[in-house]
Amino acid sequence: MARFIAEMPKAEFHVHLEGTLEAEMKFALARRNGLTLPYADVAAMRRSYVYHDLPSFLAIYYDGMKVLLQEEDFYDLAHAYLAKAASQNILYAEMFFDPQEHLKRGVPMEAVIGGITRARADAEKQFGIQSQLILCFVRDLSAESAMAALDAALPMKQHLVGVGLDSDEKGNPPAKFAAHFAKARAAGLKVTAHCDVNQENTLDHIRQAIVDLKVDRIDHGGNILQSPELIALAKRRDLFFTVCPTFSGRVKSEGQPIDVVRGMLDQGLNVTINSDDPAYMGSEYLNEVLVRAQAQSALTQQELVRIERNAFNAAWISEERRKHFL
Ligand code: ADE
Ligand code: ZN
Repeated sequence: MARFIAEMPKAEFHVHLEGTLEAEMKFALARRNGLTLPYADVAAMRRSYVYHDLPSFLAIYYDGMKVLLQEEDFYDLAHAYLAKAASQNILYAEMFFDPQEHLKRGVPMEAVIGGITRARADAEKQFGIQSQLILCFVRDLSAESAMAALDAALPMKQHLVGVGLDSDEKGNPPAKFAAHFAKARAAGLKVTAHCDVNQENTLDHIRQAIVDLKVDRIDHGGNILQSPELIALAKRRDLFFTVCPTFSGRVKSEGQPIDVVRGMLDQGLNVTINSDDPAYMGSEYLNEVLVRAQAQSALTQQELVRIERNAFNAAWISEERRKHFL
């Protein structure tokens, strides 16, 4: 089965570039940028990656990305992810990035998007992997900060395919960003939003993402399995779900926990499987995540093929390009 998964042509839609920043690269970038990190070595840094929920994960993730300062840092980060993805037979990837965090440190938007865009072009030439970029709003920062990031990015919108919404959901419902999403859609960008599993007002957040933000996809979204009405709405809209089993594979429920991938498959929802933040999740990239998900959700080879077909159907590409992949 591991060989079948490794050889299968794949696509990935839910991967945070800053979440692919491996400990080795963090040390290398810190050295290049004259920063000192509070860890003796790579192993000690990795041992500090201990979290038990979304906020405790995010604290580690945001602290880690402080070494990203120059255009070439973003180039190296994106190039390393794309090289790794290509080595796993991922043919196409749409990658998130969190520019507000970099703007806060004084890094210009041009350096962030410029470095990633250069890496995408080189990776396509070197490894054949195609990719696009999704700007995420950091929902626990202010609405003004998110709008400033969007305005800074729109002059470079030819390098973006869409916008997303990530970070801490508590007190930060999708509706807070309705104006941002409307502006992004008006600029021709696609839209998606995280609805992490088991968050505060989780079903309400899914509803707001669909109705107020008019999303094309939902990132995670496993709690939808608790609402037949929302399942019906998602099917009417033909929404895709980018599930990351390492982080959001199970929904808490009063009886048994619900297995998200199995539940979505059984409900006929368009489920895809993704790696999220592999550098912080045991360095498990898509192949390893799929191997684990296959065992956890008892997936057959036919179901794995269906999941990867869903993935290529979820891609924000022209029908011409899609035909080429399918
Ligand atoms: N930022 C990076 N990874 C995230 C996740 N899984 N959920 C919310 N925000 C994130
Ligand atoms: Zn995510």
